[in-house]
Amino acid sequence: MKNILVTGGAGFIGSAFVRYMIDTYPEYNIIVLDKLTYAGNLDNLLPVHDSPRYHFERGDIASRETVQRVVETYSVDTIVNFAAESHVDRSILQPDAFIHTDVVGTYILLDMMRLLGLERMLHVSTDEVYGDVAEGYSVETDSFQPNSPYAASKASAELMIRAYRQTYDLDVVVTRGSNTFGPYQYPEKLLPLFITEAIDDRPLPLYGDGMQVRDWLFVEDHVTGIDTVLHHGAAGEAYNIAGECEKHNIEVVRELLRALGKPEKLIRHVKDRPGHDRRYAMNCDKLHALGWQRQHSFEDAIRLTVQWYVDNEWWWRKIKTGEYLEYYKAQYAERLAESD
Ligand code: NAD
Ligand code: TYD
Repeated sequence: MKNILVTGGAGFIGSAFVRYMIDTYPEYNIIVLDKLTYAGNLDNLLPVHDSPRYHFERGDIASRETVQRVVETYSVDTIVNFAAESHVDRSILQPDAFIHTDVVGTYILLDMMRLLGLERMLHVSTDEVYGDVAEGYSVETDSFQPNSPYAASKASAELMIRAYRQTYDLDVVVTRGSNTFGPYQYPEKLLPLFITEAIDDRPLPLYGDGMQVRDWLFVEDHVTGIDTVLHHGAAGEAYNIAGECEKHNIEVVRELLRALGKPEKLIRHVKDRPGHDRRYAMNCDKLHALGWQRQHSFEDAIRLTVQWYVDNEWWWRKIKTGEYLEYYKAQYAERLAESD
């Protein structure tokens, strides 16, 4: 492994992975292929911009020609696929792009891997493929029960990966991460949305009773989990990456308000997300057996994250304009008006 293609490397977790890989492995070249959708942001890659081992190409993973050109130009031997439409609420408003990127895009990467003879692909998936977990913990062999168009698109990609592995004997590994948070996360997901809105003393639209449970994983721990599976995961296997930190949404919001020194009266209970999964929870023993442990406690990671958004208004204020405001209005205007 020498020339690693990181698709979706200008997004939240992908860019954290690129920054980490450039710092950690002086022998690797990192090539980012990213379409720069609303969620892709070259500011996320500024810390590695001057490295001679970092290269950026703008393009779509669902374009065979683009993928072939990039693989051949940089003699790519390995792919790490982060590229995706990643937000459940947007998949409910309009699923088309999820099918294009998450399903067709992953298929094109697999097919190019087969045709061009690449060594390994790591595909970044999610705990949402398991669906709602009322009790106990999902293990890697559990069946998929996706409940949102986003979750279904990620599950579909995984089924195609399985078929390519069985049919063409490709070396593909999969990670299924839990809810991830940290610096550089697009302010549509719960934590960065609520932190940046609370900084401006704006209402925080909590869906339903706020008693849904998520398992929170700091982005730096997610990235080391991916690194562990990339280097030590067995071909054809999937690995859960769990934060092992289950919390009700309301607790998470209270924690971030405490860290910001803002009052709980900013919280508004609004109309729930349709098909909203109550709980995700995964067993992580398989990844622990490869030697991975998370390094950050939730409390430290949330304080660090809150401080990052306080210190980096230059990063998020320019995002919260234009198309973002259109989306915000479509998603929240009616909900907030009804809650008042
Ligand atoms: P993100 O939305 O921040 O970034 C996605 C990136 O993919 C963006 O840079 C975007 O421009 C790029 N992209 C989108 N369509 C593309 C296309 N057709 N071709 C090339 N690039 C394209 O997402 P994220 O939160 O960083 O998530 C990264 C991956 O991790 C996704 O596959 C997601 O499903 C998975 N995941 C996310 C979480 C989480 O909590 N955020 C948890 C588990 C798994
Ligand atoms: P989100 O960050 O969208 O991640 P996911 O849907 O992948 O779990 O949401 C995390 C939880 O927070 C989820 O239960 C939905 C809830 N949520 C709200 O209550 N209000 C919001 O405005 C958002 C974006 C999420």
